[in-house]
This record gives sequence, C-alpha cells and structure tokens, in this order.
Amino acid sequence: MTTTERAMVVHQQEPYNAEPPRSALAESVVTPVGVFYGRNHGTMPRIEPQDWRLQVDGMVDRPLELSLADLKDRFAHREVVATLQCAGNRRAGLMAVRDIPGQHPWGPGATSTARWGGVSLADVLAAAGLQPGATDIAFAAPDVAPEASPPQTYGASISVAKATAGETMLVWEMNGEPLPVAHGGPVRVVVPGHIGARSVKWVERITAQGRPSDNFFQTSAYRLLPADTDLSRTRVGDGFPLTAVALNSDILRPDDHAVLPSGPTRVLGYAYAGDDRGISRVDVSVDGGRSWQQAELEADLGPWAWRFWHATVGLPAGEVTITARAWDTTAALQPEHPESVWNPKGYINNAWPTVTVTACDAVA
Ligand code: MTE
Repeated sequence: MTTTERAMVVHQQEPYNAEPPRSALAESVVTPVGVFYGRNHGTMPRIEPQDWRLQVDGMVDRPLELSLADLKDRFAHREVVATLQCAGNRRAGLMAVRDIPGQHPWGPGATSTARWGGVSLADVLAAAGLQPGATDIAFAAPDVAPEASPPQTYGASISVAKATAGETMLVWEMNGEPLPVAHGGPVRVVVPGHIGARSVKWVERITAQGRPSDNFFQTSAYRLLPADTDLSRTRVGDGFPLTAVALNSDILRPDDHAVLPSGPTRVLGYAYAGDDRGISRVDVSVDGGRSWQQAELEADLGPWAWRFWHATVGLPAGEVTITARAWDTTAALQPEHPESVWNPKGYINNAWPTVTVTACDAVA
C-alpha cells in the first residue's frame, strides 16, 4: 500500500467504502487507481476473467452469451476518459445543515476520473438486435446488498437512448491496466455523465426491456426525495430517479483547515456537469461572495471528464473562507446554499463549495 492509499478516508471496511482526501485528487486530473474512490453495497465478488460470462437478453432478436475473449474479438476497442461521481458525494455538507441518519458522511472525494478501455455498449446491443419496444437497458451484478429491502443483488438501468449513444461502455481496463476487482473487474459498465450508481460493477446480465429495472437501487435508492418527505411513509417508486450528474464543483487545494502564509495562494479544483453539458466558467471568492475572481480552466479531457481549474487569490491574514461557483454550458449556475438542496437521503449536494483556511503573516 502506498502512502497515498493509506491516506484514504475509510467510511466502512465491509462493504468497502472509502474516498481519497482532497490532496490526493488534486495531484492528477486522471485519478490514480489506488486512490479512486470505492463505493460498495455488498461484498465484492471474485470472478476469474476466464470464468466471466455476460448474458444479453430480453427484448433482443439474438440473445448473446459473451466471454471476455468474445468482447475483445468481436467489437472495436474504445477508450473514454470519464468522471464517476457518487450521488452521495459531498453529503457531509448536507449533514451539517440537518442530520441524515444511516448514510455515509461522504466528503469531497466520492468522485474520481479514469481512462476506461473496453467496448461500446451500443455495439454489443446492435449485435443482439434491440427490438423496437425496448425503452430501458437493465444491468445485473452478483454482489448481494444486505441493506436493500428485501436484500438482493445489485442492479440498475438506463434509457435505451443513453445505452446506445456510444459513450456507455463495457470496460475491462482502467488507466491502461486490467480493471481491478475493487472497481468491477473483470468487466463493469461505465455510464459517463450519469451518477456512479448506474455504472454497474461485475456486470453479468444485460436485459433490454420496456420499463426501468425493478432492482431496489433503481426503484427505492438513488431517487431524490423532496425535503419534506416522511421517510417512514415512502413507497417503492417515490421521488425522482437520479440520472445525469448535476453541475458541481469543489476546491481540492488548499485543504480545508490548512494553515498557510497570507498573500498570493493558488487555489485548484474541479468542475463537472453530466450528460450533454460542459463547464463554461468558474469563479473564486475569498470574501464570502462579495467579490469574485474568474478561474482559469485547465485542459479539456473531453465531454465526460471533469475540468480542473485554478486561480491565484490574495489571502488576507486570519481565518479565510474560500468559495467557488461554476456555470455550465446551459448557463446554469450552482445553487449557493446547501440548505436549499438538502434532501432526506443526502444526494446531489452541488451547493457552492467552500474551504476555510488560516492565513498567517510571515514573521520577520
Ligand atoms: N455495482 C455493483 N455491482 N455494486 C455496487 O455496490 N455501487 C455503485 C456503482 N456500481 C455498486 C456498483 C455506486 S453507488 C457507485 S458510486 C459506483 O459503482 C462506484 O464505483 P467505484 O467503486 O469503482 O468508485
């Protein structure tokens, strides 16, 4: 284990749930595999690559059973740089507004970016021959989630439009290496632009159907419930299913609670908006939003990756709160206050991010 991996913030050992600190994410725009966040609802299954099989069935003309060798031989190899972002990322900021019992207090790190290699799901579905009535593509995995009601294996679904759009992939490579078990190896789904929950790991079955998946993680979890929802009275299907990642950003450097010299300080962060939106502008403030400085956007790694940004701000001596805000290409601005986005499951905190630092004058 490297020093950086040891620095992971572990919310739970089994099932394993852990996030990198801001400093580890800030190191590289493509996140090293060893510090990529891990979000699991059950025990990770261990499947030897040669034993892995994928069933493609449901509303298709030609049901398929594919091995990893079949995927490699029959379909064009593709790569996508894509950010995964858990719907619970930044939940701790919502918990500071009002408690959210029974959920992990994810900080800034339930999001990471990798270069994924594999095949386009569109090509596999074309080989199976999607029937006209199919509206949803469901994914099933073998890991059992005890927290589900009733306990069941993990699953999810996406629309046929997203599944056939080209960017949705079946991947077995992560940053050029074989996909580790912890991230879904031998083969997982990557749905760029959608919340991480739809990128099903250890996928073993893909079903074309005329309705969304009836798996717990599609019908009950990963749905946004309005703030006034009484959780003791919710029913299956309540709330809005979460699909595209909302416009979000965070400050990765300096760290929260850092002690720094006053004066010019480089602030670095990311901004990301899911599906067909890009990032158009990021601002940074050191006076609680009274004045703003426009940040410089760093390299564009394509439509499915977050965008790093940086700005050099003047830190006055004392305790300083640094705030950021991002706009996307639809001219949407992040909401200002976590209070306005609080919800009972603590999903999608995309309020303006802040870190508070102490800036000290140099001693002569
Ligand atoms: N797939 C399976 N089979 N089981 C899971 O628990 N967790 C989902 C998704 N796919 C999950 C899964 C969630 S909630 C997220 S955010 C991402 O995987 C996390 O992927 P990672 O662990 O590679 O970061």
